[in-house]
Amino acid sequence: MAHISILSSSVRNGRKSHRVALYLQHYIKENNLAESEIIDLRAYKFPVFDERLRLQKNPTETMIQFADKIKLSDGVIIVTPEYNGSIPASLKNAIDLLYDEWHRKPIAISTVSSGLFGGSQALVTLQFILWKMHAWTVPAMLPIASVTELFDEEGVAADQEVMNNLASIFINELLWCIEANKRMTESHVLSNTSQ
Ligand SMILES: Cc1cc2nc3c(=O)[nH]c(=O)nc-3n(C[C@H](O)[C@H](O)[C@H](O)COP(=O)(O)O)c2cc1C
Repeated sequence: MAHISILSSSVRNGRKSHRVALYLQHYIKENNLAESEIIDLRAYKFPVFDERLRLQKNPTETMIQFADKIKLSDGVIIVTPEYNGSIPASLKNAIDLLYDEWHRKPIAISTVSSGLFGGSQALVTLQFILWKMHAWTVPAMLPIASVTELFDEEGVAADQEVMNNLASIFINELLWCIEANKRMTESHVLSNTSQ
């Protein structure tokens, strides 16, 4: 079974986008689609970036733990709010910390806003950043507008049927890309060992 990490990006007091991370984790578990865990940037409390992890002389345990979690994930869902037409600094801070860990990592993006546009500008920005990091962004996306109307604090969707349909398309696309990635990696390993 694939292992999916859900990166919850907002570290803001009273954050709302975390509700979407909770919903997705619950949805994946309920439907037995994959193993999943939330990587919560609020809990990591990373300092402001001063160097990439691989070049740091004394990286903290939490940075190493974060890198390992991303590296060992078969796929990642990034849940991010839009701040001033972009992604929050907390997310960029964490992305820049790593490099190889993002390489060919299947990543599905869910952007969140309290307004009507569902974080569409953050989505474009994040896609570009992840392309630079050589990650594989999955074509399906899950933009969430009016987040406080759509989810309660525990991540329960107000309209389960509609949200579950959207989540199903979103996560199945990620699972397809995870499988494609796995098969390519395996066939690459096989062709190298048979030479
Ligand atoms: C600093 C800041 C900037 C924001 N900028 C935008 C924006 O550009 N576009 C938008 O749709 N919403 C914007 N919002 C509203 C957020 O979408 C809304 O507050 C959302 O709940 C933020 O996610 P969070 O609660 O998980 O931090 C902004 C909110 C904050 C705090």
